[in-house]
Amino acid sequence: INFRNVDFLTSAPTLAECPEDSGAEVAFAGRSNAGKSSAINALTGNSKLARTSKTPGRTQLINFFRISDRQRLVDLPGYGYAKVARSMKDEWQRHLASYLEQRQCLRGLILLMDIRQPLKEFDRQMLAWAVSSGLPAHILLTKADKLKNGPANNTRFAVEKELREQGLDQGVSVQTFSSTKRTGLDKLERKLAQWLSL
Ligand code: GTP
Ligand code: MG
Repeated sequence: INFRNVDFLTSAPTLAECPEDSGAEVAFAGRSNAGKSSAINALTGNSKLARTSKTPGRTQLINFFRISDRQRLVDLPGYGYAKVARSMKDEWQRHLASYLEQRQCLRGLILLMDIRQPLKEFDRQMLAWAVSSGLPAHILLTKADKLKNGPANNTRFAVEKELREQGLDQGVSVQTFSSTKRTGLDKLERKLAQWLSL
């Protein structure tokens, strides 16, 4: 798969407005500000593709990016952003949940967590949901450039251990990642290519 030619397809506020449910799709999920949009930009080598922001909650729609006619990447709205109104939050979560539960072409979930604060409540919920639905998940411990290699790897081991202990390791893999330093991109590309094969 060539991720360099990915372009923007469409934004959908609800499941009903998503592109036709066919082919293969991988969704990027995670708390607000975890670095979902930045990871998509690093992967595609296009810093302007997905909008990033220092302000959490930037991505509010389900954004679709086209790899080929039958393969897409999806940038999901971040969850856990405290400053938006409660009603807005419920609304997003409803759309997010219906996308995750009903999208047939969804092949896997890339779950991004800031390496300095992994496995927050929402991350656990997403993982529990993915494991129970049999959807494979790949965790990116993002902003790994903020830690030295030793502590970064220790965090990865700790996350893997905790997932095993909680029975949340079925079909789940973990890697460290940095969009700014472009580390871990090859591993992410291999995972995506595996999931997106037609
Ligand atoms: P929402 O759309 O709000 O859910 O956020 P998001 O998960 O898409 O995060 P986004 O990619 O917009 O990044 C949030 C902030 O983190 C921005 O200021 C980025 O520059 C920064 N950031 C993202 N990835 C990295 C990284 O690998 N290293 C560092 N140091 N900063 C990063
Ligand atoms: Mg975003």
